[in-house]
Amino acid sequence: MKVNVGIVGFGVIGSGVVNLLQQYSSLLKQRSGVQIELQRIVDVDIERVRDVAVDRKLLLTDYRNVVNDPHIDIVIELVGGTNVAFDIVSQALTAGKHVVTANKALLCARGPELFSLAREKQRELRFEASVAGGIPIIKAITESLAADRILTLYGIVNGTTNFILTRMIEESWSFESALKRAQELGFAEADPTLDVNGGDAQHKLHILSTVAFDTIPPPGSIYREGIEGIQLQDVLYAKELGYVIKLLAIGKLEGGSVSLRVHPTLIPSRCSLASVKNEFNAVMLESEFLGQSQFVGRGAGARPTATAVVADIVDISTGMLQNKEFNASRYSTVSQYPILPAGDIRSRFYLRLATEERAGILAKVTKILSDEDISISAITQEEGTVERPIPIVILTRLAREENVRRAVAAIDQMSFTREPTVVLHVEDISL
Ligand code: HSE
Repeated sequence: MKVNVGIVGFGVIGSGVVNLLQQYSSLLKQRSGVQIELQRIVDVDIERVRDVAVDRKLLLTDYRNVVNDPHIDIVIELVGGTNVAFDIVSQALTAGKHVVTANKALLCARGPELFSLAREKQRELRFEASVAGGIPIIKAITESLAADRILTLYGIVNGTTNFILTRMIEESWSFESALKRAQELGFAEADPTLDVNGGDAQHKLHILSTVAFDTIPPPGSIYREGIEGIQLQDVLYAKELGYVIKLLAIGKLEGGSVSLRVHPTLIPSRCSLASVKNEFNAVMLESEFLGQSQFVGRGAGARPTATAVVADIVDISTGMLQNKEFNASRYSTVSQYPILPAGDIRSRFYLRLATEERAGILAKVTKILSDEDISISAITQEEGTVERPIPIVILTRLAREENVRRAVAAIDQMSFTREPTVVLHVEDISL
């Protein structure tokens, strides 16, 4: 059997997919029983020289030549964005084609609509590459853990920010040079603001929530902070306290609600997530029957991401060979749980205060914290001078987000406070 594939979007990932399909054509046939034929490649720019050589006859500039081509069985959407990409995916499904996409922004913005359409048309809509690049986390959750209930999810799901933090922490690179290198290596989004401000990780957590908790987060319901404000001194204080800072996507099923958040987080230096470096991603799960499990690998870049896209093509092709009834069942279009409001999230916190050095300040600070029911688990201040005081660093015990924000606002309004207090979350991860 032969399955015809058309790719829309011949950028970094598109080139990786073409390369993989060319190199492993016979291996893929052996594994799937299907001859996967790349029939068309669409891009607005078909003149640019890519890393991979292709027959010019395959290249086109109008996506409609793929979605309307009756010979194409599977459309691979790799253009990114939410407007044209939506047209491509919806028109392809309407025309009876299966679709594979790496587009997390699209699935967040219009996922339920597209999956409903796929089900109506009895076609597959696959998205393994949209989360954590080459790590098969969607398959692991939806197939391998189909019989288990996920309780907690910790993800390092943005390669660019992990790369930047690693280079800053280990080699004292500046934020700008680390970001530039991540862009050169093809990890960063077209607009790297989305990497740096946590938006990309937020998209991925949205998708993970639909598969891990069967819950579609409503717009604006995932709390988000990026790594823009991370300063070297916080990295160093964290290290002294036995922690490293990572941008984490966190999902927890607690008390009948799901809490979802993306933020820089202090995690114990000895836990396994702390050793996930550079562009590597990791997803750590805690599920009811299996307990803890962890998935680590390259979360960005052409070759790793191409393996996820092509694995989806192979899955669909095998299904076609077996005359499977397709129903795009990997994505839940009905929510099981409400989302916990951000203010009600309970976490431990790292606070760095810059204050004057005089009698009674610590007493006032601890009073403000205790009035908000925030208990201190560690407090440190090295010796400084009255002219050049050293910051006070506090680690709290579990506290409500809203209480901490209120306490910090009160501290920042005190006349003795010199700079806004730095607030970072802390997670005690044991694996
Ligand atoms: N910009 C993303 C990252 C690419 O850095 O992880 C993969 O989605």
